[in-house]
Order: sequence, then structure tokens, then C-alpha cells
Amino acid sequence: MEKTLVLIKPDAVKKNHIGDIIRIYEKNGLKIMAMKLMKMDEKIAALHYAEHINKPFYPELVEFMTSSPLVAMVLGGEGAIKKVRDLHGATDPQKAAEGTIRRLYAKDKSENAVHASDSPESAAREIHIFFSEVEIFA
Ligand code: CMP
Repeated sequence: MEKTLVLIKPDAVKKNHIGDIIRIYEKNGLKIMAMKLMKMDEKIAALHYAEHINKPFYPELVEFMTSSPLVAMVLGGEGAIKKVRDLHGATDPQKAAEGTIRRLYAKDKSENAVHASDSPESAAREIHIFFSEVEIFA
């Protein structure tokens, strides 16, 4: 079963959309293999967003992601990585297709409700930033 890391970001948690978003994953056949409510700190942000450290939006991204709790999850299923990204829609909610999670619940490119791994390599790397093997249930 393919696994992917999903974050329900602080904006969606604050707006009480955890249940709405999880329902979409479950309705689409994805299995929750691990899940926790937690706060990202600067160390976790630097690991998770290593490829963005030199981007102009990095300080804003870290400030937002560490501002209040998020939900970290491992979702599993056939083709889970692409399936979750399709359910999320484009990074910019204005460009996200109708019915996608970002179109429904995101405000802008920064407060965009959810994150998901973009490849099997990213998924393997990102999952182990948030979860140890014994916290993941097949
Ligand atoms: P995410 O999938 O978490 O991965 C990188 C994040 O950087 C992305 O979602 C956005 O939240 C954020 N991001 C990307 N581009 C911009 C931008 N131009 N301004 C602010 N944040 C951005």
C-alpha cells in the first residue's frame, strides 16, 4: 500500500475543518495509518521544508506553520500520493479545481489548508520527520 504524509495546516485546524477534510480522504478510499495533533517548531520546519529554505516566502511559511497546532497524518492506499494531491488541488486555491480541499477551505497560497508529499521519495523522507515506524499502522 502506498503511503503519503499529509498535514492539515494551522488555518484549517483553527477553522474547525479537521473533520470535513478527513471525511474527504476516507470517502475516497484512503486509510488513516497514523495521526497526531501537534505543533511544528522551527527545527521540524527546516527539515520538512528543506527545499524551500532559500525561497523568499520561507520566513512567512515558517511563521504560519509554527503559529498553532496542525494535524499530521500518514494516509495509505493504491496510488495514495497522486490521489491525495488531486483531492487537494493546486497550491493556489484560486487555481484549484471546484470541489478540491483547497478550493473549499483555503484562503491563499500561504494559508492553503493542507500539505501532501509530492513523490515516493518525499513521502519516505517526510513521514519519518513526523512518525516513527511503531506509530504507523498497516
Ligand atoms: P506545501 O504543500 O506545504 O509546500 C510548500 C509550501 O510553501 C506550500 O504548500 C505553500 O503553503 C507555501 N508557498 C508556496 N508558494 C508560496 C508563496 N508564493 N507564498 C507563500 N507561501 C508559498
